[in-house]
Amino acid sequence: MGKIIALAGKGGVGKTTVASLVLRYFSKKELGPVLAVDADPNSNLGETLGMDVIKTVGDIREDFMKDPQGVPSGMDKIVYLEMLMNQVLIERKEFDLLVMGRQEGQGCYCMVNNILNKFSDELEKNYKFLLVDNEAGMEHLSRRTSGNIDMLILVSDYALRGLRAVGRIKEMIPSLKLGVSNIGLVVNRAPSELGKAFLDEADKIGVQILSTLPNDDTLLEFDMERKSLLDLPDDSKAVVAVDSLMEKVLGIVNSK
Ligand SMILES: Nc1ncnc2c1ncn2[C@@H]1O[C@H](COP(=O)(O)OP(=O)(O)O)[C@@H](O)[C@H]1O
Ligand SMILES: [Mg+2]
Repeated sequence: MGKIIALAGKGGVGKTTVASLVLRYFSKKELGPVLAVDADPNSNLGETLGMDVIKTVGDIREDFMKDPQGVPSGMDKIVYLEMLMNQVLIERKEFDLLVMGRQEGQGCYCMVNNILNKFSDELEKNYKFLLVDNEAGMEHLSRRTSGNIDMLILVSDYALRGLRAVGRIKEMIPSLKLGVSNIGLVVNRAPSELGKAFLDEADKIGVQILSTLPNDDTLLEFDMERKSLLDLPDDSKAVVAVDSLMEKVLGIVNSK
């Protein structure tokens, strides 16, 4: 089992941006194989990376539940689901991407979910690093029953409200079925020096600040031009910040 790095924080604080730049770091350093998991139902990690996402794990579940008899004759339903799962996995030289998509709808999906979860568990064994871009509620992580998060990166903007959201996520951790070995905070769109009120609040919540990310207009430019964040120049402010964040994160997760 590889190292699991997960990102969490409220919507719009920069999780997907950081996730993309973490993947850029892994690619550049050739630290793979890496599996990126987009666990936000409003998925857009693929978009940020310039990858076309046609189908999600949620789509497979929905399709299968709509037509459980649609399994080709003579094929075992587990083999069939596995085949569909393989179609969802986007494979690239630098890393692979699995998009979870919608959460389950109504009705009992237990059987399909169990099969799909088992496949993801098996799949994950092939990678050295797993990077999970979560939504605010961490639904995906709360449903996981195996594995241990080596580093949970909580992302906040430079605002007390963002920090409090981080505090609430941190409080949720004991209720998760999986262990979290390390937690750290990344402050996005931060000024060069953090103010006392912010530092005090971070202290109160009990999160260690791993690093800060300055505002970087190049990100907006890339978004507007639909360019992949993987193609940002090495000296862009956000890239430099995430590269140094990753040196720190790898130092922590590899030391155990
Ligand atoms: N440091 C930054 N400088 C400038 N724009 C940023 C920065 N971080 C994030 N953004 C922009 O903010 C928006 C939300 O970021 P995103 O990473 O999608 O947040 P989340 O995944 O947490 O919802 C995006 O349009 C992104 O380009
Ligand atoms: Mg996002």
